[in-house]
Amino acid sequence: MPHFTKPAEGSWTEHFGLATEPVSYDDSISPEFYEAERDAIFRRTWLNVGRVEQLPRNGSYFTRELDAARTSVIIVRDMKGTVRAFHNICRHRGNKLVWEDYPREETSGVCRQFTCKYHGWRYDLEGALTFVQQESEFFDLDRNRFGLVPVTTDIWEGFIFVNFDPDAQPLRDYMGRLGAGLEGYPFHLMTQRHTYRAEIGANWKLFIDAFMEFYHAPVLHAKQATAEESRKLQGFGYEALAYDVDGPHSMISSWGGMSPPKDLSMVKPMERVLRSGLFGKWEGPDIGELPPGVNPSRSPSWGTDSFLFFPNFMLLVWKPNWYLTYHYWPTSYNTHIFETSLCFAPPTNAFERLQEELAVVTFKEYGLQDGNTLEATQTMIESRAVTEFPLCDQEVMLRHLHTTCRRYVAEHQAGHATPVRITAAS
Ligand code: FES
Ligand SMILES: [Fe+2]
Repeated sequence: MPHFTKPAEGSWTEHFGLATEPVSYDDSISPEFYEAERDAIFRRTWLNVGRVEQLPRNGSYFTRELDAARTSVIIVRDMKGTVRAFHNICRHRGNKLVWEDYPREETSGVCRQFTCKYHGWRYDLEGALTFVQQESEFFDLDRNRFGLVPVTTDIWEGFIFVNFDPDAQPLRDYMGRLGAGLEGYPFHLMTQRHTYRAEIGANWKLFIDAFMEFYHAPVLHAKQATAEESRKLQGFGYEALAYDVDGPHSMISSWGGMSPPKDLSMVKPMERVLRSGLFGKWEGPDIGELPPGVNPSRSPSWGTDSFLFFPNFMLLVWKPNWYLTYHYWPTSYNTHIFETSLCFAPPTNAFERLQEELAVVTFKEYGLQDGNTLEATQTMIESRAVTEFPLCDQEVMLRHLHTTCRRYVAEHQAGHATPVRITAAS
């Protein structure tokens, strides 16, 4: 059921049926729990690996290193225009099929076929084995048995997903009510894309935590506003406009105030000159009426909505009509790769390009402040000097995320005769 306004009594946390006790962060410091998450979560849920604009032509492809799902995949638009995904492995002796100079680095390009670097076997873009070097040396080799191994793939609103679960539910069903509420947003028009990628020394869930609450914003990011404004913000604290949960997915709707600011003295001189900042250009393109899932409380002071599509795809829609994505790709229990893409409608003149650039660099500054804090947190929770942490009502989505992860792991293990040992508290 949607929850568009704060419950008259009680809290968001209780409203969503979550406990209010302090939480354990064992699920973020345990190598065993991470191993369980790889199978229970990353091999069983829909993972967003890119957008259709990254495959502009028939023959366009890119690879993704999905360590958490224990594989590498090739995503390709075949010669008939269909988007397909394959495990990135040659059927001869298992070489990684598509890579450039470094086998663990992702790559992209355009081709008509994939050729293995080792002994030259070739595959067409539908995955069929089309050429075997010295084929007559093999023993009754039936090429039809040795095509590329397909991965289930589907597209939602131009976002390409893969799923390694043979019994995966359809993607659109998986995206649920929160996904349906975003359908129709003109993601396809926002083709001006800026990306950042960082290796983070923290569990993947800790960075999601940092972006699923803004309780920290007036404090951690205090220096991003003018001194006077910053003092005011800390005095008010932070309260979201709305939260919502649907199955494993969640969202937070937040007020803005900076696009444009009510009073120019709230923002820095550079922002005044360029009429832009963290929330993007103050005047964005006209895209007509927003879909119902955006600004669900229809608040006039709305600034941004942040959706988490479980497990690791975050989508933020901003009032001045642009969007950004975050992805958190675990590489171990205490490291992950963080990726973000800021996507705007292409600028129509040099001033708009500069406005966009200011939004992009401002965003980077915020991101660095968040990222540093994560490493500081990870190192100390690993000390286990403290094992219980109180969360406030504005941190409700963190509880939801960690609870969901533990539930996926528990349910997956319940289906196994000999469960993997888990150290995290339930
Ligand atoms: S491993 Fe690919 S051709 Fe031999
Ligand atoms: Fe932050």
